Amino acid sequence: MEEKKVMLSGIKPSGDLTLGSYLGAIKHWKERADEFDCYYFMADLHAITVRQNPADLRRRTLEQLAQYIACGLDPEKNTLFIQSHVHEHAELGWVLNCYAMFGELSRMTQFKDKSAKNADNINGGLFTYPSLMAADILLYQPDYVPVGEDQKQHVELTRDIANRFNHIYGDVFKVPEPYIPKVGARIMSLANPEAKMSKSENDDPGRVTLMDKPEDIMRLFKRAITDCDACVRYDPENKKGISNLMTIYSCATGRTFAQIETEFAGQGYGSFKTAVGESVVELLRPIREEATRLIADKAYLQDVCRAGAQKAEYIAQKTLRKVYKKVGFVAK
Ligand code: TRP
Repeated sequence: MEEKKVMLSGIKPSGDLTLGSYLGAIKHWKERADEFDCYYFMADLHAITVRQNPADLRRRTLEQLAQYIACGLDPEKNTLFIQSHVHEHAELGWVLNCYAMFGELSRMTQFKDKSAKNADNINGGLFTYPSLMAADILLYQPDYVPVGEDQKQHVELTRDIANRFNHIYGDVFKVPEPYIPKVGARIMSLANPEAKMSKSENDDPGRVTLMDKPEDIMRLFKRAITDCDACVRYDPENKKGISNLMTIYSCATGRTFAQIETEFAGQGYGSFKTAVGESVVELLRPIREEATRLIADKAYLQDVCRAGAQKAEYIAQKTLRKVYKKVGFVAK
């Protein structure tokens, strides 16, 4: 039997998962479970590069696991785990720090952005974040890393680090490709269609989280920023707000942009916004209900992440052992 290709991705539990995380990422992940050998983890080690409230971080990490499962990621088919449970991430992260250059790390857009936003806490972890991310990836020798546009630079750096390491020590790491889905990849904030719907900025008034109640979702859509042209037409250059709502509606209902334009021809934005809101309420309802049920079942969540960590560790250990040997560490 031919071996399945490997796919891996992580999400930081530093904010609530949003409609954007679902439509842009998780929804596509679940469709690949049969074709690929998939690893998904809660990147808690990455989360603490920005100060977190410990109780919130702990709660959110488990909630996120519940939400992944509720979104359709079957723990029997996907390896779901918590990053800090597999200590090889931190260990390989250290080694790769020694193969990532100061200049490279300084050029990372996310580092520059986050330093600007957290000027009082520009810590070493924030700076070396990409070497830890490279470790997350390279430990599992994946073929593909599904990420949003904003993480592409980190995957490119991972490739550079892997190539550099392989060049010195022989073929240790598989050099992975970023994997960016074409449709629904970027859902924008309802309050500011110029910016991606953010999970970390809890104060983004235009974010819809997976756990929002129907009335909150409807309120957010009714307030969504549009334009004064009153015509439902897909034009991502000039009509960013409406185009974003159309993308969401299209993802939620399966209708094409042309069909949506016909459906709302001659109507104002009011009825369109209501329709989009209702489609999202129905899309998220089963996810919220299932996630709520799972969050109450801590024992089940513990079992899932323990089993996931065990599977992950088996692979991670193999890679780390090889790396330790190559760089010249004495075997235990
Ligand atoms: N840096 C990613 C983000 O901010 C999260 C992440 C951490 C990740 N490690 C990863 C994504 C490895 C893909 C692969 O969204």
